[in-house]
Amino acid sequence: MLQRCLFPAAGYGTRFLPATKAMPKEMLPILTKPLIQYGVEEAMEAGCSVMAIITGRGKRAITDHFDISYELEHQIDGTSKESLLDSIREILNKCTFTYTRQNEMNGLGDAIYKGRVLVGEKYPYGVILADDLCINQDGDGVLTQMAKLYQKYKCCIVAIMEVPHEDVHKYGVIEGKELEDGVYMVSNMVEKPDNDKAPSNMAVIGRYILTPDIFPILKTVKAGKNGEIQITDALCKMAEKGMVIAYKFKGKRFDCGSIDGFVEATNYFYNLEKETNK
Ligand code: G1P
Repeated sequence: MLQRCLFPAAGYGTRFLPATKAMPKEMLPILTKPLIQYGVEEAMEAGCSVMAIITGRGKRAITDHFDISYELEHQIDGTSKESLLDSIREILNKCTFTYTRQNEMNGLGDAIYKGRVLVGEKYPYGVILADDLCINQDGDGVLTQMAKLYQKYKCCIVAIMEVPHEDVHKYGVIEGKELEDGVYMVSNMVEKPDNDKAPSNMAVIGRYILTPDIFPILKTVKAGKNGEIQITDALCKMAEKGMVIAYKFKGKRFDCGSIDGFVEATNYFYNLEKETNK
């Protein structure tokens, strides 16, 4: 049902300088896997086989990562190290990767708009921001949960979580009416509001299912917060027509765009791996 997933990955990752000077932030590893691979695996679980990546200058390592390295394959062929490449081989067997570049940093809305040549204008698609690393140990991954919900509502869906009031200025924030447990009909959305002006403490995290009718809106929406084209503003226009659902996802989310979140995720995945190998 959901076949395509878009990965905006053009950002500079300045918070991780100098590590991200010559390496894309999406390639920073949590244990042995780069962040973007976690995202791709989540999308695969949700049924996607076309991974559409919005890259930028200096992001070639992402393209190389999702490709065969013949030299490496040859080196480890028949050795005990072969299994280390299993996860990436499975991805390459099942998925197609497409790329386009966002030449100028014009915001998340602009990046998604650039992705329209990759995901087409006919079908719904997932959007994963790889630096929001999500895991649900108790069942379906976050995008799978959202894909199931899409079957019922057939409209745009954003994943949300409650955050402390002093943190709302870091997120897109929704206002809405609860339709069923953890599912809201969105009536308003604000990108990074001042803490005292936020409509709620329900923050959008980096998982979306978008319908193609978002593209004409993105084309005309004016620059918003920080002078950038915001997906939040385009979605807000759709929400006015009752076409956006917010979903309180099940699982954990780590903000791997920040040092704290990155270290937290590393510790969490390390302990998880230790537990599994016991
Ligand atoms: C983006 C979105 C924001 C959302 C956030 C989730 O912001 O613009 O609405 O809440 O991702 O991580 P960014 O963190 O890229 O500034």
